[in-house]
Amino acid sequence: MAAQDRIEELRAQIAHHNRRYHELDAPEIPDAEFDLLVRELAELERQYPEFAVENSSVGGAPNPLFAPVTHAVPMMSLDNAMDAEELSGWAERVHRGLGDAAVSWVCELKIDGVAMSLLYRNGAFERAATRGDGRIGEDVTANVTTIEGVPKHLDTSTVSAPELLEVRGEIYLPIATFDALNDAAEQTGDRRFANPRNAAAGSLRQKDSAVTAARGLQLWVYQIGEIHGGPEFTSHSDTLDYLGRLGFPVNPEVRRFDDFAAVIDHCSHHQAHRHALDYEIDGVVIKVDDLAQRDSLGFTSRAPRWAIAYKFPPEERTTALLDIQVSVGRTGRATPFAVLEPVLVAGSTVSMATLHNEDQVRLKDVRPGDTVIVRKAGDVIPEVVGPVLSMRPAGTEAWQFPTHCPCPVRGRFERLEGESDTRCVEATCPSQLNQRLAYWASRSAMDIDGLGERTVIQLTEAGLVADPADLYTLDADQIEPLEGFARPSAEKLVAAIAETRQRPVPKVLTALGIRHLGPAASQVLAERFGSVQAVLGADPDALAAVDGVGAVIATTISSWYAHPNNRAFIDKLAEVGVVLDHLPSPAPGAVDLAQTLTGRVVVVTGTVPGYSRSEAEAAIRDRGGTCPGSVSKKTDVVVVGDAPGASKVKRAEELGIDVIDASGFERLLDTGEW
Ligand code: IVH
Repeated sequence: MAAQDRIEELRAQIAHHNRRYHELDAPEIPDAEFDLLVRELAELERQYPEFAVENSSVGGAPNPLFAPVTHAVPMMSLDNAMDAEELSGWAERVHRGLGDAAVSWVCELKIDGVAMSLLYRNGAFERAATRGDGRIGEDVTANVTTIEGVPKHLDTSTVSAPELLEVRGEIYLPIATFDALNDAAEQTGDRRFANPRNAAAGSLRQKDSAVTAARGLQLWVYQIGEIHGGPEFTSHSDTLDYLGRLGFPVNPEVRRFDDFAAVIDHCSHHQAHRHALDYEIDGVVIKVDDLAQRDSLGFTSRAPRWAIAYKFPPEERTTALLDIQVSVGRTGRATPFAVLEPVLVAGSTVSMATLHNEDQVRLKDVRPGDTVIVRKAGDVIPEVVGPVLSMRPAGTEAWQFPTHCPCPVRGRFERLEGESDTRCVEATCPSQLNQRLAYWASRSAMDIDGLGERTVIQLTEAGLVADPADLYTLDADQIEPLEGFARPSAEKLVAAIAETRQRPVPKVLTALGIRHLGPAASQVLAERFGSVQAVLGADPDALAAVDGVGAVIATTISSWYAHPNNRAFIDKLAEVGVVLDHLPSPAPGAVDLAQTLTGRVVVVTGTVPGYSRSEAEAAIRDRGGTCPGSVSKKTDVVVVGDAPGASKVKRAEELGIDVIDASGFERLLDTGEW
């Protein structure tokens, strides 16, 4: 595409997204994507100055609901630095611009809210205006007056009030208030806000100030726009100190550095701990402290040369939703997942994301062909937030949950009334079989060295294995022809399988893959009943009476064993030599487990495969750890399983607590490390 065409296309896109963001409070793309468009345009305008126009990418037009306000001093935006290199490049330009003079830097948090100009005359609040396009904003005085943190009269106990003072800052919504607002919206069936910044913007644009008043908005100030009849300042730090004395809320995280390496460290620190705050930030703003130096550096057409915004890497990106597929687990549960054009999100490439169940897909209304917003919940779990509707291709239709399993047998899918899960009800389903076999071989079950999912699929496709018992009749001649095997590796696998005939009862019970029956319950049941058959054949009441078991596990065990196929399978295991009454010695029990988690506080959210909730917690406690039900500052690590509680993950994020996914759980138990 010719440069001029691309420039025009970018301008149109930027204008569209500006309107969505500034006027409609309903952005369609994450900020990071918008920044990329602006950057591309700026770069093209630099290369082709003949096509450049002034202010081609700034803010939105004023909303006709509010009277226009002309800013006496334009409200400029800031240039961005996306990484340490760009940041250092900016510092070098500042030094060069100042003839290599020494520079002190002030670092402030970049608050993710709505920029506001607040005008005071002789100490009394007079007017509040939004930034608008930087020159003309909207008069939102009536609404801003309702915000408690906005001083109505300046504090003159230690300094005198200037004749005229125009202060700039950010109006924002604390995260807890935002969550409460969205919870309430859900109750009343109203539209949820995408993020605290949109919620703040929407709250400021109310016709009825009482609505704004109820929203709990807050303020941080960070800059003087205009001042008459006040003190003369020589540094930005002094202005912030002065604003604090006048009673304005100045963010406590402001720091001054003489060394730029310390500025970079400071930015990394806040990047790592951004979620420890109870309000959202999207970067750090670095400003030259000395006001005379600022004057000599001046402005470009868009932004000051004396300040820059270091933007944190995006935690949200857009990408193409290539397909929605369904995977079938060992219990037949069919889980839809998004197949994505690979995209880098918060430090790793994401190409798949679970969509949990049919209702979730319907709620999000994502369709193959859509451009979707992807983010990482708790920095670990990729999540599809929703579609970018303006980019939806024509002619797409809402996705339908398939009626049959994608495996060759094409078993029927069934969703019971009142349940959110869909299941494949075909007993011979190869997907379920593969998952069952892989689970049988997994570490928390029989722990067969060298038998992974790829080999399992080859074994079932070759017709060599129809259930886990068949593994014990395999010989090296059968395995050798499989892809990736030679004689020695085939023999090794046969030996590894054979060795597991002696696994203790709790391992065999776990390996059966009975819903809800994981390692901890298997352990206590084995101790109580002594053999696999004794557990399976026990009266449900006797099972439920065992500490740590309960009625749900008890009934699932009994109904599993009531099924003739399952009884036959247990007989077959005995026939192929799997020992069903081997109890490890010395007598089993938690006491002889390595106390890897002594003093550790571990919170589990969601289901860790192979464990019920109580089993996962028991496994932690058995190793000396504690396992409270909620995340606090004392928590060392949060384990995120399937279908985790969003609030726990979010809380961990806020407090900067490490989060690991379920695949790290065994390692945590074994080593106490994550
Ligand atoms: S200073 C001329 N300081 O970021 C300098 N801005 O693109 C004016 N922002 O529109 C801005 N926190 O809404 C400054 N500590 C901070 C800030 C901050 C957030 C916003 C502000 C501005 C945008 C810059």
